[in-house]
Amino acid sequence: MSEIVLCKPTLHDVREMQDLVRPYVDEGIILLRKDEEVANTIRSYTIAKENGEIVGFAALYIYSPQLGEIRSLVVGKNHQRKGIGKKVVGALLDEGRGYGLKRVLSLTFETAFFLSLGFHEISKEEIPEHKVWEDCIRCKLFPVCNESALIIDL
Ligand SMILES: CC(C)(COP(=O)(O)OP(=O)(O)OC[C@H]1O[C@@H](n2cnc3c(N)ncnc32)[C@H](O)[C@@H]1OP(=O)(O)O)[C@@H](O)C(=O)NCCC(=O)NCCS
Repeated sequence: MSEIVLCKPTLHDVREMQDLVRPYVDEGIILLRKDEEVANTIRSYTIAKENGEIVGFAALYIYSPQLGEIRSLVVGKNHQRKGIGKKVVGALLDEGRGYGLKRVLSLTFETAFFLSLGFHEISKEEIPEHKVWEDCIRCKLFPVCNESALIIDL
């Protein structure tokens, strides 16, 4: 396996990021975000590259001075189970610590993955209302959603 390099994306990466996430958007696993929205929030992403190709990424969204969320986590289908997702989330948690965040949330079908990183499950009632109205309402699965809510203290 070649070396995995983590870095912040530039706007030139938006197209390749959208190509990587598209299969998961089509499956309803990840929320569709338009190019403009990815560009607006480009500073919140960390990408993983292997031989110059983007093989995974995620974003750290900040809700409040205490709470953040891991969003749009994706690793290419041919690159999974090689530790890339763990590296990307680890880098974003470090970034959150650097900003002074206290907790980071994830809403996900990948419970085992987040548990392995030290997250623990919480009840859906603990999810910020803001999230429900801004994101959940745009989701194909709303309002019948089987995602789990997980959180980690930093
Ligand atoms: C979830 C996802 C990002 C994980 O990325 P990854 O690079 O494959 O994960 P890693 O290799 O870093 O896995 C770290 C650990 O998580 C656990 N894990 C990862 N995927 C798992 C799975 N499908 N089932 C059970 N455990 C899993 C394992 O403990 C793994 O460690 P190990 O395999 O070395 O024992 C990837 O599967 C993905 O892109 N899925 C589709 C999109 C998605 O669901 N995103 C989450 C939205 S919040």
